[in-house]
Amino acid sequence: MKQLQTSVLLAFAGMLLIFTGTMSLSRLTSAAEKPATKTTGSAAPAKADGALFVDFVSVLRHPRCMNCHSLGDVPRQGDDGHPHTMNVRRGPEGHGMTAEKCNTCHQDHNLAGPHMPPGAPNWGLPPPTTPMIWQGLTDAQICRSIKDPKQNKNRNIDQLVEHLTSDKLVMWGWDPGEGRLPVQMSHDEFSAKVKQWADSGAACPK
Ligand code: HEC
Ligand code: HEC
Repeated sequence: MKQLQTSVLLAFAGMLLIFTGTMSLSRLTSAAEKPATKTTGSAAPAKADGALFVDFVSVLRHPRCMNCHSLGDVPRQGDDGHPHTMNVRRGPEGHGMTAEKCNTCHQDHNLAGPHMPPGAPNWGLPPPTTPMIWQGLTDAQICRSIKDPKQNKNRNIDQLVEHLTSDKLVMWGWDPGEGRLPVQMSHDEFSAKVKQWADSGAACPK
């Protein structure tokens, strides 16, 4: 009788051990699986090389974005980034010259039909004081430029993430209207990558 009690007790204790063992093990693995969203201490150096930025910079270099973030005071068109037809200029606020404002032709939505003006709310170029030109820049320079409050309209990282992931002009790149190729990387994937970059310290490549 005494022996039976001991063995039951032992079996119970054994099960308890196994149970708590698997619990802490699963907690360990789930912590390891989670990407280092809030990197602290030892994990930081691995992320500090800007690789997470390079992961999504192809989107910023896509013609749908570059056509408004390119050199000179003109918007560009097409996948070859040719200067906008009809001598359209940036103008004093980025919204064109008096006689040829962007919204003379561009609405807040795409117009149907090939070669019809595409559109989104606030369609225009960045203003001449902060032209946000990325053309000709290295990945590292683009990264520093979009993070620099003097060049990015005083945005902090959270506001930059917000702009990159949900601004209407940016979103247009995934729905650019008939005859134009949308940005290749899916919007979900792009947003996840931008957030991961920001959460791990928003490092720029060297
Ligand atoms: C006189 C009309 C007109 C004005 C003014 C105008 N646009 Fe356009 N824009 C067009 C048309 C039409 C297209 C489409 C051309 C096509 O698809 O062949 C276009 C295309 C574009 C594209 C190309 C999108 C792409 O990725 O191919 C951009 C960018 C653009 N316009 C920006 C601007 C900006 C910024 C302004 C003001 C500074 C402006 N446009 C003023 C008519 C105009
Ligand atoms: C029709 C023109 C247009 C297109 C197309 C466009 N942008 Fe912009 N972008 C602007 C304007 C105008 C601003 C400045 C407005 C502001 O700061 O709120 C801007 C600002 C930005 C900024 C702010 C930070 C900085 O310093 O550059 C980022 C980031 C950005 N755009 C990303 C993108 C991305 C990514 C795409 C393509 C998916 C894109 N834009 C497509 C016109 C455009």
